[in-house]
Amino acid sequence: MPSYSLEEAISTIRDQYFALVPARLLRLPPPPTLASSAGQAHLARLLLDERRFPQPEDGYRRLFWRSMLRELESGLRDLEGEADDLDLEIDERFYELLAGLMIADIPLGSMAEAAALQLGHHILRNRAQLDITTLMGTISSSGRSRGRILELGAGTGFLSCLLVQQGHEVTATDLGEVLGGGVPPLDRLRHNVALNKLDGQIRVESLDWMDAARGLSERPDIWDSILTNPPDTIIAADVIYDPDLIPPLVCTLSTLLSSPTTSTIPRQAIIAATVRNAQTLSLFTQCCSESGLEVVDIELPPLDPEQPTFWDSGLDVSVPVRIMRIVHRGT
Ligand SMILES: C[S@@+](CC[C@H](N)C(=O)[O-])C[C@H]1O[C@@H](n2cnc3c(N)ncnc32)[C@H](O)[C@@H]1O
Repeated sequence: MPSYSLEEAISTIRDQYFALVPARLLRLPPPPTLASSAGQAHLARLLLDERRFPQPEDGYRRLFWRSMLRELESGLRDLEGEADDLDLEIDERFYELLAGLMIADIPLGSMAEAAALQLGHHILRNRAQLDITTLMGTISSSGRSRGRILELGAGTGFLSCLLVQQGHEVTATDLGEVLGGGVPPLDRLRHNVALNKLDGQIRVESLDWMDAARGLSERPDIWDSILTNPPDTIIAADVIYDPDLIPPLVCTLSTLLSSPTTSTIPRQAIIAATVRNAQTLSLFTQCCSESGLEVVDIELPPLDPEQPTFWDSGLDVSVPVRIMRIVHRGT
């Protein structure tokens, strides 16, 4: 390929990058062309200069560079042994950039989106496996709610917004205050719910898991109100990341799943966990077991990267997510 057309091909990648074209849809030159020394040099010159070009948000950049490195590595394998490029390697700067983006994502960045988006996908496509149809019982066409759902650590409120649009009665909760100041998660949650014009439809409440272990009279009033009329299903995405938060989170689940009710519908929690650290996850399941909670992985069909539910770069099917059902052994 003449050098001008190689440069043009790489310019096209730059245009797609700044237009946030989803990584899986990128039009790229053949991998060996991309991985050639000239290809890598153009790529570095046209895309790496952060001072000259304002960069897309980190979540998109992470998916983009992960996909580019896959292409570069495959191109390098194809070029192996070719006389022109005997000592060819992948420019370290691409790896350093991706490593920086991965670190910036842990624990509260775009990996958080993977668990919520994957659970959102299954809520839309595999409702029966999640058992939320059966649990909801009544039919929405009768004008009655199909069931009460409470989301813990709702963050952006994405799942709560999705569930309310599916006809559920939803309470979205998060921390009302943060140590050391800053915008409380609850304010951001409220803001997002209002942006989606759902503020009249979703109940947004401050609920701190740390309060679960307190005596009844010491807990804020919201606990009393929730426990008087407990939710059928508790939902949470990406809430298992900090070992110190696991005991209060499990205590919250246990309190919500075991409180007395007149309803005959068995209560459950559905937790989507991004698998970052196997030890943290096993600490969670052990803590659940010690608190009388049974944890079962829900069998769900794998996500199809070619047919994404959310046409968005955030649904990264390669991020491992465990979706668990939790019930109280006594129920
Ligand atoms: C990694 S984020 C996940 C947010 C959202 N569920 C998602 O998947 O995008 C963890 C959430 O847990 C909330 N959280 C952390 N500690 C909490 C606590 N003690 N009580 C209630 N929520 C808490 C955070 O404010 C944050 O919204």
